[in-house]
Amino acid sequence: MSTKTNHSISVKHIEKSRINEIDFNNLIFGNDFTDYMFECDFKNGSWNNPTIKPFGNLSISPVAKVFHYGQAVFEGMKAYKDDQDKIWLFRPEDNFNRINKSSKRLAIPEFPKELFFKALESMLQLDKDWIKPGFGNSLYIRPFVIATESGISASPSSEYKFMIVCSPAHAYYTGDIKVVIAEYYSRSADGGVGAAKAAGNYAAQFYPTNLAKEKGFHQVIWTDANEHKYLEEAGTMNVFFRINDTLVTAPISDRILDGITRKSIIALATRDGIAVEERRITIQELIEASKNDSLKEIFGAGTAAVISAISNFSHQQVVYYLPKITTSFAKMFKNKLMEIQYNKSEDTFGWRYEVSSK
Ligand code: COI
Repeated sequence: MSTKTNHSISVKHIEKSRINEIDFNNLIFGNDFTDYMFECDFKNGSWNNPTIKPFGNLSISPVAKVFHYGQAVFEGMKAYKDDQDKIWLFRPEDNFNRINKSSKRLAIPEFPKELFFKALESMLQLDKDWIKPGFGNSLYIRPFVIATESGISASPSSEYKFMIVCSPAHAYYTGDIKVVIAEYYSRSADGGVGAAKAAGNYAAQFYPTNLAKEKGFHQVIWTDANEHKYLEEAGTMNVFFRINDTLVTAPISDRILDGITRKSIIALATRDGIAVEERRITIQELIEASKNDSLKEIFGAGTAAVISAISNFSHQQVVYYLPKITTSFAKMFKNKLMEIQYNKSEDTFGWRYEVSSK
């Protein structure tokens, strides 16, 4: 059956939900997807035929430019359900702005704001049962754009597909994370695409991250490409260093993703009188702080990762351990953030966005 909504998004309904096949207590991040997906094609200079349809495979030319030149960007956002079954998004406008910023950098046409929000809301209404209430439960939302024009001339595509898929999720990492500080490989460089959520940024990290995993680490903390001297981000999350009671994090640049969780922590800390320094921090400073016990915590912050504590870091084959801390900033910020996200505390910043229930 195909119907038109009053937002001109056409909806093709599923015959039967797959929700009963999902074990919501044992989710593996990104493995299960909801019943629906949103699709909209860019052709002849405009976005056309917005459609919500049953989640399923696409049929795309093998010479679509995305397969050859990686012209693709994405976003990561989450929907939360409160105790009254209301559904909330967290700072969705920031995701919208960022996907268009990423698109611009990859020569992809921008997506219209009204349609982005209508698509999101319509999807979430249809898939609402996939969002479970309770801290830690969420629906991870993955909007993305791919270049679909067929032809392998190395030039921007004239056709694109914007899509949204959703996956029930808990936090990306379970337990503490061990990281290695990059000494040779780089994630991004000045003038590059590091600040964009470009698909290729993630593919480029897989090989060095695999090398780190072979040695028992989970992630790499990337350093500046010029000198491998300054700490930048961890690829799936921005990174905060707590030195005594001051939070230090690398400043946003065209090498670092402008993380929404990152800037929310900075805002919460500033509001609550915790000193935050957005400045360059060297590996040497980190090692010194570890040696003189002023380094109290390192944690990552991202939509998928939420706030994840790092238990040790390695540099030049030496492993440095973080102390066990009773009054953890990571735990405190995670709690404050979740209380806002799950509509349990006042949202003085206006970050919450209620998804309409109609
Ligand atoms: C997110 O937090 O949404 C991310 O992009 C991380 C993802 C690559 C797992």
